[in-house]
Amino acid sequence: MKKLAIIGTGYVGLVTGVCLAHVGYHVTCIDIDLGRIKKLSNGQCPIYEPELEKLMKLNMEKGNLEFTSTLTSGIQEAEAIFIAVGTPQRTDGSAELKFIQKAVFDIGMTIRHDLTVIVKSTVPVGTCDMVKRTFETLQPSRQIHVVSNPEFLREGSAINDMFYGDRIVIGADHREASIMAEAIYAPFSVPIFCTDVRTAELIKYSSNAFLATKISFINEISTICDKLGANIEDVAMGMGMDKRIGEQFLKAGIGYGGSCFPKDTQALVQMADQLNEDFHLLKSVIQVNQKQRGVLVEKAVERFGSLKGKRVAVLGLSFKPDTDDLRESPALTIIDKLLAEEADVVAFDPAAQYHTINTLKIPRAETIETALKEADLAMIVTEWKEFVNLPLSTFKRWMKSPVIFDGRNCYPITNARNEGIEYHSIGRASTFSTPMNNKDFAIKE
Ligand code: UDX
Repeated sequence: MKKLAIIGTGYVGLVTGVCLAHVGYHVTCIDIDLGRIKKLSNGQCPIYEPELEKLMKLNMEKGNLEFTSTLTSGIQEAEAIFIAVGTPQRTDGSAELKFIQKAVFDIGMTIRHDLTVIVKSTVPVGTCDMVKRTFETLQPSRQIHVVSNPEFLREGSAINDMFYGDRIVIGADHREASIMAEAIYAPFSVPIFCTDVRTAELIKYSSNAFLATKISFINEISTICDKLGANIEDVAMGMGMDKRIGEQFLKAGIGYGGSCFPKDTQALVQMADQLNEDFHLLKSVIQVNQKQRGVLVEKAVERFGSLKGKRVAVLGLSFKPDTDDLRESPALTIIDKLLAEEADVVAFDPAAQYHTINTLKIPRAETIETALKEADLAMIVTEWKEFVNLPLSTFKRWMKSPVIFDGRNCYPITNARNEGIEYHSIGRASTFSTPMNNKDFAIKE
């Protein structure tokens, strides 16, 4: 059985390791975080990702998957080592590469056989060349190939994306390295696209930047819909029927978050700056996204005049449903804005018990009901199915006054209107009519 090693057991490393074990490789996952390795070795999955813990335990029982904090034992006999460590955003927007450099140094100081190193972390263009040069310095007599293999996994559907994604990208500057990497992915029925290393690194950033662009575009159109009285969902539907546009990633809301889009868009702008290229479009995408995060609070302030002392129930903390990840979540920005308005804020999130970071300055309700109890208004920030499936009548039963500001357009407007609920959403008519939003829109002559 071919032995593989993976350095880094975050979302990408752990999902990749479990899935590679599931198709028959012997995979050793390595991490410097002793506590994390201990949890993993006990069959506990440290992240909230549907189906991951079950698949992890299954492959541990089969003997295909193990975890260790010692790199030396972990990488011996490995034919390929995946580097899947974090590349967090630095304050100037560029990618922090110190974890990559440490992994590369540790491999270079430890390895005693020729092998292929596969960089799966999202890294600026040129990083794999730096990795290659490091190995040439540390192990001049060894044949260590370096391959770029960016991931396209979405949190919440990462396993599905691993087995049924649209493509696997392999960037290699030697044919044998490309053949090795392609062979590893042979058991997955996913099209493989091969190119050179730098191009593969850029495909990752370009893909995420384009998806973020689609989101900011539809969010700007939603603002126009608000003013025109048009319906953003129908606009998106009508656009998406054009195969050249595509219907996905045209869902208006309060902006994108997560550990990827915010970081990768900034990093690409940085890369362009270093090339003396001003990436105007992407800078606008980032600005639109920041602005979109404020839309719900602006609507609420416009509606109430002031939110001071108002009890606001924030439903959803993670940046998207089916994940516990709060990184760059719009909820964090919205909570800060509500506190700045001196509102009385409480939050509920179905994955809250997984949340490791507890920097929230507000109480968290154990249930939706306790969050909504006596609330003057509710803000839906993440479209968890627990909210989408909640009958609107419960808002009437639990809240002091059933006023909803929905940042993810979870409910049909007609349902809110029929329930007699005051319902504000994104790019769609409000069920609350005031003289302000009844003004006729006159196209200026
Ligand atoms: C993203 C990319 O999709 C994935 O290919 C890459 O490997 C990692 O980054 P992820 O960040 O996990 O995946 O989630 P995704 O489903 O892409 O959503 C990102 C953000 O965009 C979320 O905050 C989501 O709410 C938002 N979004 C997504 C929208 O606002 N509108 C949409 O139509 C789609």
